[in-house]
Amino acid sequence: MNYRHAFHAGNFADCMKHALLCAIVEALKRKPTPIRVLDTHAGRGLYDLSAPEALRSGEWHEGVARLITLADGPLAPFVTLVASHGAPRRYPGSPMLLEALLRPQDALVLNELQPEEAAQLKRHLPHRPVHRRDAYECARALTPFPERRGLVFYDPPYERTDEFERLSAAIAQVWRRARGHIQAAWYPIKHLAPIHAFHHALREAGLRDVVAAELWLREPLNAARLNGCGLVVVNPPYGFESEGMALLQALLDRLSDGEEGAGVRIARIADE
Ligand SMILES: C[S@@+](CC[C@H](N)C(=O)[O-])C[C@H]1O[C@@H](n2cnc3c(N)ncnc32)[C@H](O)[C@@H]1O
Repeated sequence: MNYRHAFHAGNFADCMKHALLCAIVEALKRKPTPIRVLDTHAGRGLYDLSAPEALRSGEWHEGVARLITLADGPLAPFVTLVASHGAPRRYPGSPMLLEALLRPQDALVLNELQPEEAAQLKRHLPHRPVHRRDAYECARALTPFPERRGLVFYDPPYERTDEFERLSAAIAQVWRRARGHIQAAWYPIKHLAPIHAFHHALREAGLRDVVAAELWLREPLNAARLNGCGLVVVNPPYGFESEGMALLQALLDRLSDGEEGAGVRIARIADE
């Protein structure tokens, strides 16, 4: 495992995944009954954007730095939340955002395989369980949730060539074990063939009610670049497609440089 998220924290892809993640959690909170969130690739929780890794990549300049002055519109609650964690000097990862959003009756379970990242995470959130297991094994082992309501969030590094296959197999298994649970999985868009294969695999596994939200910065022609990213959502909450589109459009307005092929979409991968 060579991947270090500190190079990428707060970039456009983080902003996209986290704005949509927050919207899903807010939707789950519309009912007072408890929910559980399992963050399978949690990372370290909080990133210092003045650390050497963040300075070297500078990716956050094209991400959170472009959003931080937004005071209204659909992204405003997300921007307020990241600012409350110190953005743009520090950027909160998914565990800190979830920690801030969940209510006393809800449960948050974190998993991170890389030892140093897991140790940092435990320092930031000492009262939360932090597992150090393979993400997909963890998702299978910890579902269905005792609360019977909640979200499994997958955010893999895509270092392995079989990541999409392992991810789709895990989503399908969790779906069979816990049909009502929401599952959300972030993916990079470099070129289209792996994305089409991923969506196809989810359909072939028999999953129902699946959408894919995508933000494209440009036509994905050069597979060496991160041209955009997506979030597959199984059992999206009511209203996700319209709320998600508003968030994606607001992200595009700030994050796109107007390159050919830039755009957003929410497509149905499998019907209800
Ligand atoms: C994209 S980062 C996660 C960022 C985090 N979700 C956030 O939003 O702040 C991916 C993380 O997965 C961890 N990781 C890599 N392979 C893993 C595996 N098989 N199981 C669990 N974690 C893994 C990496 O160490 C890295 O911290």
